[in-house]
Amino acid sequence: MTMQSLPGFRTFYPDDCAGRNYILSKWREVARRYGFIEYDGPVLEPMELYEKKSGGELVGQLFDFRDKGGRRVAMRPEMTPTLARMVAAREKDFRKPMKWFCCPQFFRYEKQQRGRLREFFQFNADIIGESSPAADAELIALAIDILREFGLTEQDFVVRLSSREIWSGLLTEKKGAGAFGNPEIDQLLAAIDKAERQPESVVDSQLESLGLSWGEVKQWAAGLGERILAPDSADFGKPLASFRELIHAHLQSRGLLKYVEVDFFIVRGLAYYNGMVFEIFDRTKKERALAGGGRYDGLLDLMSDGKVDLPALGFGMGDVVLGNLIEDTPRAAEKMKVWLAKNRSADVFVVVATEQLRSEVLALVQQLRDAGLRVDFSLAAAKVGKQFQAAEQTGAQFAVLFGEEWPMVSVKTLATRAEQRIPHAELADWIRNRQKDA
Ligand code: HAM
Repeated sequence: MTMQSLPGFRTFYPDDCAGRNYILSKWREVARRYGFIEYDGPVLEPMELYEKKSGGELVGQLFDFRDKGGRRVAMRPEMTPTLARMVAAREKDFRKPMKWFCCPQFFRYEKQQRGRLREFFQFNADIIGESSPAADAELIALAIDILREFGLTEQDFVVRLSSREIWSGLLTEKKGAGAFGNPEIDQLLAAIDKAERQPESVVDSQLESLGLSWGEVKQWAAGLGERILAPDSADFGKPLASFRELIHAHLQSRGLLKYVEVDFFIVRGLAYYNGMVFEIFDRTKKERALAGGGRYDGLLDLMSDGKVDLPALGFGMGDVVLGNLIEDTPRAAEKMKVWLAKNRSADVFVVVATEQLRSEVLALVQQLRDAGLRVDFSLAAAKVGKQFQAAEQTGAQFAVLFGEEWPMVSVKTLATRAEQRIPHAELADWIRNRQKDA
C-alpha cells in the first residue's frame, strides 16, 4: 500500500514549489514597497491564545492536542493573536505606526473544498498605533497593489468594504441607546456573517431573540449605502464620518475607488474586529474570499490586561484562492509563466566533450559559481548529445562546451542557437555582459 498524504495537506513537487515561491516573493516585494517589515512567530501556541482571542468558527477548527508535558497546544490557524501578544510584550521598542508583515503557513481543520484546505500560506499585513482612516486606506491600497502585481485588475477582483462600528451605531439609532449591549451586537453580526450561506428562515430564527427580522436588517444595510454616498446627509457621528473620509478622501485620491464597493453585509467572522472591515472576492464569485481583515482596536488592550492600548488593523490573504484566480485569468497566468521561466533556469550548463578536461571544467564551474552565476553540469561522463539535452531541460540560457578547442571554449545561446568561441578566462564577464543587455 502506498502512503497517502492527509486530506487538505499539499505536497510541493518542484513545479508546485516554484508556484508557491512566486506568490511568496511577490507578497514580500510589494509589502516592502509600502515600508512594511517582516516578522514571524511560533508555529505551535498555547491553546488558550485562540480560545480567548480568535472566537467564532475558528476555535472549532483548531489542530489541537496535548504535548508530552501535558500542555494544551494548537498549530497556528492565524497570526493576529500571536501578533497582539508580541506587540503587547515589547511595544515600547518599536516606532509607531508599526507596519509589519509575515507569510506564515497556517492549519485549520476545515472541510476541504475549492479554495479551502487544511494547510495554507497567508500573507498578513498589520498597522499598529495609528487610528486615522489614513491607515485603513494604506492597508487597503497594499492589498489592491498586491493583486495588481499578480496581473489582476478591477475586472478580476473587488474589495467589499464595511464597518462593524457603523452597525452598532445603526442599532443604537434604530432601537435607542442601551437597547443592545456587546453580546447582542455580536449575535447580530454573527448572523449577518453567515447570512449569504443560509436560508432566510434560519437567519430569521437567529435574529428572533433580538426582536429583529432579516428583512428589516437588509433594509437598514441598503439604506446605509446611500448615506455613505451622500456626504452632507445627517448621520450618527464619528463612525460614519471616518468611513466617508476613508472613501472620499483617501481611496479616491489614490485612484483606487474602482476596486472598492461598499457592502454592509460584510462583517467578518472573527471576534476581535470592531471598526472598518473588508473582504476581497473574485468578480465571477466562483471562489471563496481571497483576503479579509479590518480594525481590531481593542485587542491589544485585552491581550495586555489594559497595559497597552494601541489602535490596530490588518488583513490576511491566502495562497489557495489566489493561486486558483491566477490560473484562471490568462493575463495573470502569463505573468506567472514568465517569472517562473526566468527564475527556474540555470544561467549556464557546462558540457564536457573531452573527459580529460574534467578537472579544468571543475575549476571553471567553481569560478563561475563564485561569480554568482547559476551553473549546472553533468556529474558523470555522458554523450555530448545527452548533455545538450540536459542543458535544454534545465532551461539554461547558455551551454558552454569544453572540447578540443581548449583553452578556448564554445558558448551557445540556447534560445537563438548562436555560437561563439571565447577564452575560458573571459567566460564569467562575457555571460554577465550578455545578461545585462538582455
Ligand atoms: P481570515 O478571513 O480567517 O482572516 O483569513 C484570511 C484569508 O486567508 C482568507 O480570505 C483566505 O484567503 C485565507 N484562508 C483562510 N482559511 C483558509 C483555508 N482553510 N484554506 C485556504 N485559505 C484560507 C484571518 O485569518 C485574520 N487573522 C486576518 C487578519 C490579519 N486580520 C487582521 N490581521
